[in-house]
Amino acid sequence: MNKKFTTVDFKKAKENGEKITMLTAYDYPTAKIFDEAGVDSILVGDSLGMVVLGYEDTTKVTIEDMIHHIKAVCRGVKRALVVGDMPFLSYGIGKYESVKNAGRLIREGGCSAVKLEGGGQVVEDIKAIISTGIPVMGHLGYTPQSINIFGGHKAQGKTLETARKIYRDALLLQQAGVFAIVLECVPYKLAAFISSRLDIPVIGIGSGAGCDGQVLVAHDILGVYRDFSPKHSKKYADVGDIMKKAATDFISETKNGVFPTEKNSFIIDDDILEQLKKEV
Ligand code: KIV
Repeated sequence: MNKKFTTVDFKKAKENGEKITMLTAYDYPTAKIFDEAGVDSILVGDSLGMVVLGYEDTTKVTIEDMIHHIKAVCRGVKRALVVGDMPFLSYGIGKYESVKNAGRLIREGGCSAVKLEGGGQVVEDIKAIISTGIPVMGHLGYTPQSINIFGGHKAQGKTLETARKIYRDALLLQQAGVFAIVLECVPYKLAAFISSRLDIPVIGIGSGAGCDGQVLVAHDILGVYRDFSPKHSKKYADVGDIMKKAATDFISETKNGVFPTEKNSFIIDDDILEQLKKEV
């Protein structure tokens, strides 16, 4: 069995100039396949609110939803570092709540680290969580839980003021002790600059090749989530089309009597059946 990838390996990878790979997963089979493929880390993202539960955004996801899916993912993973997302309002409303909820993801869910969104405003929560021994991953740039403030899914950090804020927040998070930062939808030159200035790895999503690693949403790369196709992602397969074809083939074969065949059925001794027919 391969050695487990840990938060320490995140740091080592950056030092050695090796790119870190991270994919989201929300269930046992997907997590198992991605782990077998060799991805370094699996994020049980609160993106599950949209791509699995069908909400419009991530703000409806609860801590119970997260624990349920983190448990399933952890059952399928042997090597990758599993990071559990802290959902909207499970932090940022007091240190006690943040530590309690981060602890639930670790203890009940079984993941090895948590991720939460935001900069200076959540630094005290982050410090409190880390002080209990839970590794924290930061998330800056476009932070989906603040969609109602951003007014939609928009790149961040294009003005001097917002670029400065993202840079300063990244330094604050590093000082607070996060082991890595996700940088979402930030102009690629800014993301490369921030990555070069930090000692901890920057994992980009929509932030260009200059980051220390990349994270993508499983349902986007697989072509399963078809409501919205983000510019920053890449569809590596069209599993959605394959699923649809499998379902239409099943429907047509069942209606036409092609499925099931004897191969898909169980047998009973003819004598037993005859006996039953006589009895009833
Ligand atoms: O929830 C999620 O999937 C995420 C990624 C977009 C990084 O936070």
